[in-house]
Amino acid sequence: MNSLGKRIKMFEPVIEDEDIEAVIRVLKSGWLAHGPEVEAFEQEFAEYIGVKYAAAVSNGTVGLMLALKALGIKNGDVVLVPDYTFIASATSVLMMGARPRFVDVDVETFNIDVEDLLSKIDDKVKAVMVVHLFGHPADMKVLKEIAEDRKLILIEDAAQAHGAEAYGRKVGSFSDAAVFSFYATKNMTTGEGGMVVSDKKEVIEKVKLLRNHGQIARYVHAELGGNYRMTSIQAALGRIQLKKLDKLNSMRRSVAYKYNELLKNVDYIKTPVEKPWAKHVYHIYALKIVDSICRDSLYNCLTSKGIEVGIHYPLPLHKQPLFKSLGYEECCANASYLSSVELSIPVHPKLTDEDINIIIESIRECIEAYCSK
Ligand SMILES: Cc1ncc(COP(=O)(O)O)c(C=O)c1O
Repeated sequence: MNSLGKRIKMFEPVIEDEDIEAVIRVLKSGWLAHGPEVEAFEQEFAEYIGVKYAAAVSNGTVGLMLALKALGIKNGDVVLVPDYTFIASATSVLMMGARPRFVDVDVETFNIDVEDLLSKIDDKVKAVMVVHLFGHPADMKVLKEIAEDRKLILIEDAAQAHGAEAYGRKVGSFSDAAVFSFYATKNMTTGEGGMVVSDKKEVIEKVKLLRNHGQIARYVHAELGGNYRMTSIQAALGRIQLKKLDKLNSMRRSVAYKYNELLKNVDYIKTPVEKPWAKHVYHIYALKIVDSICRDSLYNCLTSKGIEVGIHYPLPLHKQPLFKSLGYEECCANASYLSSVELSIPVHPKLTDEDINIIIESIRECIEAYCSK
């Protein structure tokens, strides 16, 4: 255990009286499923991101699937996806019958590598799925130019990046459609939930159709859809969470800056990068521990001291058993490297200065005990 005998969690949602009251208000109203509360959340979220339209869905994975389908991705199409991300960025493509092709990532930002991306474009490629990993935006200026130039559909997986900005503009506003997740650990949450946003009316209308059994009039169904709706209970929570998102993000950023300062001269550790054109919202504070044996020892040592840490992610996608079984071959050296050195430490808004000091003290002790030559 650490010197204060205190467990420190990796993720903690910020649920206050106002969140609880909003949920109770909906429960008392009797309107629990999809309704005006969801529509209000959609409108407020679209305004926040700076896009015209939004469709709330049951989770981010479904959001990606429906966005792909609404954009016309179909059997046999290839979608470029970074090799280093959460599995849903790629499985959503598979679920739609298309095939993800993996692109290596930049070792500094963990985001899609532009040179490798260019080398992987051919006639089969219909779309690029960009992920703003850990809350650091991908370079949307360059990526948008490439997509326009090569006539490719551009999708943003912004599941980890609510409120992040590239070149002064919110992520989610650069592409044909972008998808957010409101899973319990995210920068804002509805427990489970997701949102598809776009400036294209027809894309959002299609997502809304698909999320509701393709229903065009009561019990009249024009398309194969399903039930991927968000409840009013989730939406009420989401509306309150959205109101405080900027405040929660600044709290995350201030924790991250403290870490950056306190860890800057610690051997073996590289702190995360924030590009000059970017606003990082630190969904995850991803360290690189330059020696992989030291990374694994640090993981175990910090865990034994009651500090929850994470490895995001232990495998690049091409090495996942799923993709190996589908015949995917070795690729993407940077993604493989990052999976061996990444270590995430808690960065949520509930961390106190005391927590931060314990974490730093514990990192120093663990490095001294396990990593020093
Ligand atoms: C990068 C990324 N994409 C997609 C998702 C899927 O979102 P959900 O968990 O809401 O289905 C997540 C969630 O963790 C994610 O981190």
